[in-house]
Amino acid sequence: MTHFLDIHTTPPSELRRIIETGRAIKEARKGKPKAALDQKLPLKDHMVALIFEKPSTRTRVSFDVGVRQMGGQTMVLSGTDMQLGHGETIADTARVLSRYVDLIMMRTFEEDTLTEMAEYATVPVINGLTNRTHPCQIMADILTFEEHRGPIKGRKVVWSGDGNNVFASFAHAAKQFEFDLVFTGPEPLDPEPALEGLYAIERNPQAAVDGADLVVTDTWVSMHDPQSARERRHNQLRGYQVNAELLAHAKPDALFMHCLPAHRDDEATSEVMDGPNSVIFDEAENRLHAQKAIMKWCVES
Ligand code: CP
Ligand code: NVA
Repeated sequence: MTHFLDIHTTPPSELRRIIETGRAIKEARKGKPKAALDQKLPLKDHMVALIFEKPSTRTRVSFDVGVRQMGGQTMVLSGTDMQLGHGETIADTARVLSRYVDLIMMRTFEEDTLTEMAEYATVPVINGLTNRTHPCQIMADILTFEEHRGPIKGRKVVWSGDGNNVFASFAHAAKQFEFDLVFTGPEPLDPEPALEGLYAIERNPQAAVDGADLVVTDTWVSMHDPQSARERRHNQLRGYQVNAELLAHAKPDALFMHCLPAHRDDEATSEVMDGPNSVIFDEAENRLHAQKAIMKWCVES
């Protein structure tokens, strides 16, 4: 059974294979209408369940479209509408779903929910974001960086902001893809201790982005964070906003990324998001191509 649960649990050679497949899949359907089938249909006759316990725009639409382009069919399920949200165990849900579908993508809160789903499912399970990680996003980000700037190996990536789930997957990727990652943010919002050793810390954002090839940020309040923390987080993170002044300290051709959704003029200014260094919409598009490669890898490995 080949699950795609996290970047650090997937061997570097397999991750590289997925990126190259994503690139080829993207290239092969250039110019085709969105609903046209791909030439190769690795999900032909496959039924895919997309489970969401949190909101989503990109993950939901890109997986749904991707499955259909590869010849499969989807069902989008909301956690609250399932018995899962009303006391049925994850293990039982996993066993039952495995009788109906060939692949499961899940966005959930606790990482344990995802790992239990994978443990009891007899079909591949893909991580569509947990409180701790967002590996599909970072696969799309690597694809995006490399199509603009070539190999990411040895490059300097700087994360400015909250040490959250998206950062965690960047930290896992730094090791697997061999790039340098610097975290800049306030100490109370440091990444979780388990990630230590995968990145460097520089509290001064301008010093951190010096020489950066890529500057990344994300929302200051994630879906799993209590809304009551909003004001405190804004006060803590204001100095880490990615704006033109900060970006001027990076390399002139540094890319800017944000997984979206963004709160414009909080974590990044519209000037940066819509500026010449920004590749945020290529990033969003590449969710589709990278995830198609992930699903192909899951069903064919
Ligand atoms: N970046 C991302 O995962 O977006 P959604 O929450 O819209 O899926
Ligand atoms: N860190 C954000 C990412 C959203 C795609 C969250 O978890 O809400």
